[in-house]
Amino acid sequence: MADILLTRAPKNATPLLLLTEKAFGAWAKKKPKRIGQWMATHEFAAKPGTFWLVPDAEGKVERVVAGISETPSLWDIADFSTRLPAGSYALESDAHLAYQEWLALGWVLGAHKFTRYKKAAAPKAKLVLPPGADAKKIARYAASICLARDLITTPAEDMGPEQLADAAVAMAKKYGAKISQIVGDDLLKKNFPAIHRVGRASYRAPRLVDLTWGNPKHPKITLVGKGVCFDTGGLDIKPSSGMYLMKKDMGGAACVLAIAQMVMDAKLPVRLRVLIPAVENAVAGNAYRPSDVITMRNGLTVEVGNTDAEGRLILADALAEASAEKPELMIDFATLTGAARGALGTELPALFCNNDAVADQMLAAGKDMEDPLWRMPLHKPYAKMLDSAIADLNSAPGSPYAGAITAALFLQRFVGDGLAWAHIDLMAYNLAAKPGRPEGGEAQAVRAVYRLIEQRAGIR
Ligand code: BES
Ligand code: MN
Ligand code: ZN
Repeated sequence: MADILLTRAPKNATPLLLLTEKAFGAWAKKKPKRIGQWMATHEFAAKPGTFWLVPDAEGKVERVVAGISETPSLWDIADFSTRLPAGSYALESDAHLAYQEWLALGWVLGAHKFTRYKKAAAPKAKLVLPPGADAKKIARYAASICLARDLITTPAEDMGPEQLADAAVAMAKKYGAKISQIVGDDLLKKNFPAIHRVGRASYRAPRLVDLTWGNPKHPKITLVGKGVCFDTGGLDIKPSSGMYLMKKDMGGAACVLAIAQMVMDAKLPVRLRVLIPAVENAVAGNAYRPSDVITMRNGLTVEVGNTDAEGRLILADALAEASAEKPELMIDFATLTGAARGALGTELPALFCNNDAVADQMLAAGKDMEDPLWRMPLHKPYAKMLDSAIADLNSAPGSPYAGAITAALFLQRFVGDGLAWAHIDLMAYNLAAKPGRPEGGEAQAVRAVYRLIEQRAGIR
């Protein structure tokens, strides 16, 4: 990040003029005829996402003209770092500073590459930060989002429960947070039966990571992230098409870590807690079975309808633990159901929330931050689908309908009475690249929830 944004403009920086399609016409009229003609020949009309190199008398680049959208967007020039010729570019825009900072964030996010196994040269087009820009804030967002992306994109062999926990430990160390872990059979002693049960078949021990930071007098906000480092489906094994991407099944954990880093880096006046149940849903002789019953942390008994519905089990124990101290707000992030993706696609996380005011605030924050969410209902009548003949609940109803809702209703049974809770069912992955969003792991709902936490902390 440091090298793709420049805090001081070098002498030879190329002006990057931002124009909407409408403003372009007036601008072009003022230019020498030959330039207008040359642009017309190439059918350049400042459509959003397009740019034009304007030559000077010597044929060098005098400036770049770029088309931006009518409604300012984070993604307007987010792929320019890889499309513009090498050089440094300084925005020429009368738009307000916040938008220019936002564009700079998009620029960095679009330049991000996952380089763990294959070196890649950093994009050679650099952006000069506008004068007065809050470079620290841009870096905070960029570093946190890119951290989440890298954690998700890292294959499971190198991102098991322990390595995921290590990422949290490193962060705790950097920001002076308290962190503890309950690992392996200790999960049974400390009464986290579901986390143990789901994770026991892996040679890499399951664990619960528990990070706390901040002044206990400040509003208590708890984030819970699904940390399934690989989801084979367990004995109800996934077909290869469904299994391939399952390194990303710790995307919820990665997103809550991203938010935690932002909150701690900005020193928001909240008391933050992060709980990450980290497991691998593996196939082995000691794997948990469909039809087994688990007595959960909160005492409810759950019949395992399908071992591929593992996320809700580990989250249930974590939500029960989170509830014990009655936080002001609990939010869980999870790559929980294919059904949520069937309903909303991969780019729109589903929000379930038992509190309308919190939900409205989160949806609005999502709009503000260009990090959209869509609310889905905790439709009570469907709770019947979770009935089991021999236990309090069945973890995975056989019905092909309403899978995202029944998963959310299942989680709700582990949320303490009267507590405000939101559940985000997300993809955490870009299947194909879009400006600012390279293919691979993606931090979703992170800017939205960070904004919500800012508001809860009384900021703006
Ligand atoms: N991690 C998957 C859900 C998933 C799949 C999220 C693909 C995003 C993309 C989860 O653990 C799972 O397997 N869910 C099952 C639940 C079913 C067995 C009740 C599903 O959605 O099919
Ligand atoms: Mn699964
Ligand atoms: Zn899963």
